[in-house]
Amino acid sequence: MRKKVSIIGAGNVGATLGQLLAIFEISDVVLYDIIQDMPQGKALDISQMLNIFNSDSKVIGTNDYKDIEGSDIVVITAGAARKPGMSREELLSFNAGIIKEVSNNIAKYCDSNKCIVIVVSNPLDAMTYLTYKVLSNYGFTRNKVMGMAGVLDSSRFVHFISEKLNVSKNNINAFVLGSHGDTMVPSVKYTTVAGVSLENLLNSQDLDNLIQRTRKGGAEIVSLLKNSSAYYAPAASTFKMIKSIIFDKKEILPVSVYVNGEYGYKDIVIGLPVVLGKDGVEKVIEFNLTENEKKELDISANKISELSKELYNLKVLV
Ligand code: LAC
Repeated sequence: MRKKVSIIGAGNVGATLGQLLAIFEISDVVLYDIIQDMPQGKALDISQMLNIFNSDSKVIGTNDYKDIEGSDIVVITAGAARKPGMSREELLSFNAGIIKEVSNNIAKYCDSNKCIVIVVSNPLDAMTYLTYKVLSNYGFTRNKVMGMAGVLDSSRFVHFISEKLNVSKNNINAFVLGSHGDTMVPSVKYTTVAGVSLENLLNSQDLDNLIQRTRKGGAEIVSLLKNSSAYYAPAASTFKMIKSIIFDKKEILPVSVYVNGEYGYKDIVIGLPVVLGKDGVEKVIEFNLTENEKKELDISANKISELSKELYNLKVLV
């Protein structure tokens, strides 16, 4: 039987992800949105495309949370995206209420023993923290609630490295850790080109340029699109995580996880390298980061911690 992936929020990221899952026949797809008729329209459109790809995935659109019942994976893309000039953090108070309601509905309709939840909404680290805090009251363990950020940020880093060195993306393996924000930590030590660490391939000025462009990768696209944030690469990154889970591939990917002592951090969600398989985050891998990278990760962790505390000040969490 095909797996069932429900996507909460049928906007650009949600619909693009649904399309990828259906074209590659990875799962059946439920597209949920509060906007009447829109998810149904997109689902019908995607469904009418599938015979061209010989896919038998079933795609439905709905405004009723009941339809997510029994999902193997739920992806949360709901909430507002940023406008040009805005930081992801500025979305916190608006999106927090939405994400809390979504989480309560996941708890109501999905089985904590089976369902894995991937958060994509921003600010990513705080929204994943909120989702985990709500769902942990209903038996969801921390390996089953995670955020998508590192795969996207690493993919952006790969793109810029590939352009700079004029080599195939296939030969580049990147790890961007930390927050999905300006303090993200592209690890130069653990980013390799045909097995050679990036620190041996580029001078510090070039490295710095690539790192800065990666850190601002989302904002660069927002400023070009004007009324939308990026969606092709965010959807594809979520797709990669879903495939690793559904096919139990156990890929080592940077994923935002709730930490309980790993890397010296507690009670935050932060991007770290993990093994991603059928049980979700099956293991957090301890990288031997350089002193500077660890320092940057600490800064990122502090920033995340401050923002997550806002959820208590706003009384979204108690
Ligand atoms: C970005 C949004 C999805 O980085 O956070 O493009």
